[in-house]
Amino acid sequence: MIVNKVTDLIGNTPLFEIKMKNNDWKVFLKLEKFNPGGSMKDRMALNMIEQAEKDGRLKPGGTIIESSSGNTAIGLAIASAIKGYKFIAVVDHHASKEKIDMIKAYGGEIVIVGDRYKANEVAVVERERTAKRMSKEMENAFFPNQADNFDNRSAYTNTLAKELIKELGTIDSFYAAIGTGGSSCGTALGLKEKNKNTTINVVEPVGSILFGGKGQPYFQSGTGNPIDAPIPKIIDYEIIDNNFYVKDDEAFNTCRYFAKKYGLLIGGSAGGVIYKALEDINRKIGSGNAVILLCDGGEKYLNNVFNDEWMINNNLMNEEVAKQLEQWIQEV
Ligand SMILES: Cc1ncc(COP(=O)(O)O)c(C=O)c1O
Repeated sequence: MIVNKVTDLIGNTPLFEIKMKNNDWKVFLKLEKFNPGGSMKDRMALNMIEQAEKDGRLKPGGTIIESSSGNTAIGLAIASAIKGYKFIAVVDHHASKEKIDMIKAYGGEIVIVGDRYKANEVAVVERERTAKRMSKEMENAFFPNQADNFDNRSAYTNTLAKELIKELGTIDSFYAAIGTGGSSCGTALGLKEKNKNTTINVVEPVGSILFGGKGQPYFQSGTGNPIDAPIPKIIDYEIIDNNFYVKDDEAFNTCRYFAKKYGLLIGGSAGGVIYKALEDINRKIGSGNAVILLCDGGEKYLNNVFNDEWMINNNLMNEEVAKQLEQWIQEV
C-alpha cells in the first residue's frame, strides 16, 4: 500500500481470531491499535474535523481545542498537523504520560486540569468546561465536543461497521467499551442496518454511571462516565441490548495475559471488554460469530497496566483472571 497522507492509513485494521473452549462461536478481536495514532479515535477525529470544515465551523488557520482522555486528542493532533491547524488538548491526570508525549510529538499543546482529584478520579467536567471556555475566548477556535458531536458517531457507522460487514458478512454479537458511545453506537447503527438481530453489548468500568450504576472511582482510562459528568448526547440507548460492568483488576490482568500468551499488547479498556465478552460468549450454545472492538494498544499504558509496581501498589494483581480466561479460550 502506497499513501501520501497519514490519514489514508486510518481504518481497515486487522481482525485477530480466537476460539472458544466450550462452544463453536468464532470470536474476532478488531485491533484498532493499528490506526496511525494507535486507536480507533483517529476515525472520529478526522470526521469531526472534516465535517466542521464543510459547514464552516472550522476555518483555515483555526485552533482546535478538545477535552480528551488522550486518544481523541492524538487523532486530532495528527489531523491538525497535516491540515495546518493549531491543536490544544485539555487532559487530566488520568491521561497517561505516553499519550501526552504523543500529542506533544505531533505538535499539540497540553492543558492539564483537575489537580484536586484523586489518582483514580476523572476530571471530565472540568476538562469540558475548560475546553469550552478557551474556545470561546480564542478567535477562530473550534471545540469539537466529542461527547455530543454526532460526527463522532457517524465516523464508525461509515467506516468501522462497513469494514466488519465486508470481512465477516453478518455479525451475531458485537461488544465494545463505552465512553462517549460514539464507537459502540455508531458501529451498532451500521451493523443493525445489515442485520437487525445483531446483539449490541457494551462494557463500562464498575463505578461508571452510564446505566444507572453507583458512581465510584476507577482506573480504566477513556471508557465509562464518572459520577458528575453529564451523559453524552450521542449515546443511543435504544440500540444497546446488554450492558456489563468490568472491574479494574479484571480488565488489567486480561491485558497482561494477552501480552504474555499471544504477544498482543492491548490497552486497559480493551482488556475489560474482552473479559466481559468472553464471559458472555462462553454462556452461549451452538455457533455464531462475535466481534470485540479493542480501542487501543498497551504501548500507551506501560507505566501503569504493564508496570508490576504500579499494579501491586494499587492492589490490582489478580492471578485468578488468567485462570478464568483459560477456562473460556482454546489453547493456541
Ligand atoms: C481507551 C478507550 N477506550 C474506550 C473509549 C470509549 O470509546 P467511545 O468514546 O467511542 O465510547 C475511549 C474513548 O476515549 C478510550 O480512549
